[in-house]
Amino acid sequence: MRIAILKERAADESRVAIIPETVKKFTALGAVVVVEKGAGAAASFSDDAYIDAGAQVGTAAKVVTDADIILGIQAPDVALLKGARPGAWVAASFDPFGQKDRVQAYAAGGFEALAMEFMPRITRAQSMDVLSSQSNLAGYKAVIAAANEYGRAFPMMMTAAGTITAARAFIMGVGVAGLQAIATARRLGAQVSATDVRSATKEQIQSLGAKPIFVENVAGIEGEGSGGYATEMSEEYQKAQAELVSNHIAKQDIVITTALIPGRAAPRLISDAQIASMKPGSVIFDLAVAQGGNVEGSVADQIVLRHGVKIMGYSNTAAHLATDASALYARNLYNFLSAFWDAEAGKPVLDEEIGDAVRLTRDGKIVNERLLG
Ligand code: NAI
Repeated sequence: MRIAILKERAADESRVAIIPETVKKFTALGAVVVVEKGAGAAASFSDDAYIDAGAQVGTAAKVVTDADIILGIQAPDVALLKGARPGAWVAASFDPFGQKDRVQAYAAGGFEALAMEFMPRITRAQSMDVLSSQSNLAGYKAVIAAANEYGRAFPMMMTAAGTITAARAFIMGVGVAGLQAIATARRLGAQVSATDVRSATKEQIQSLGAKPIFVENVAGIEGEGSGGYATEMSEEYQKAQAELVSNHIAKQDIVITTALIPGRAAPRLISDAQIASMKPGSVIFDLAVAQGGNVEGSVADQIVLRHGVKIMGYSNTAAHLATDASALYARNLYNFLSAFWDAEAGKPVLDEEIGDAVRLTRDGKIVNERLLG
């Protein structure tokens, strides 16, 4: 069983899908791990560290030759997989709705594409969930990046030269990233409020010491929503939400938006008129900028100044914390494959619940229900 790890090719990517710790663990299962030279450099994992942990290090072509499983952060281009075993598995993020051509190419190439973002939200899969592990870090980083651009302090400070008031931070979308953003902004001393469309988040917001801001007159999504995910809201809800946000946002210094709907463009939560109502010097961090953006006018990897408000967001937020993000992602991959490791066969054998959920392609065809339906 050969497990191959290529250097990530995307321009905004600094993470790596294996760390020395998981090399050791895969080796202990009986696998041979082969890592492309320099694959971990941008995440501060040296080739020597991989070799010390028991991996082989080589060129891309050597790494892929006879590979049974290829691990990636972002799925590699199919052209890079020449020489892998027929039917080899590739476990990585595929952006299946956004990159349909790539999924098709994997099918045509006879590979088994395992999309880590399709991991079901069930308790036993929590430790395998890359969306959670990466969103958590992204929520933290968004607050730190916004604080860095903010020309004032977050906490209240009483000094001999006068008092500095605490920043007001508003978190829109309280999933994994939003919860971490609330916690981080609170730790920095801001006064935090937050909103979501799922009613289950109200208590979570309160338990973190923040103030929930919710649409009261139109029903949102009861409880967690289906699988913890939001759906597109009715026009009536969107109108009520816009009014609520307009009243609240004018008083905010920092806004972090995290709202996503799987398979769709991110919902628009903040309009230009709402930005204009904010105080100059306020900062908005749009965590959804790579999925179309929650904020009017946000541009990935740029700071846009609109009405004196700084609007920012990264195309790949987790990659800004490459070492930790790689470590968590690599452990997610290890937890996934090792949970299904069949000692006799010397390889993982997936069950239906998780296997069918993450598998996009097999035997030359696209087989995933979410892509076929
Ligand atoms: P996500 O990344 O899909 O969306 C982020 C947040 O935006 C969600 O809370 C969503 O409700 C919210 N949102 C969507 N449209 C909105 C709008 N128009 N206005 C305001 N907010 C809006 O969600 P994420 O972070 O992946 O997690 C969502 C839920 O799933 C959480 O409750 C989490 O605890 C649960 N979860 C469970 C897992 C498991 O059991 N294995 C793993 C991951 C998440």
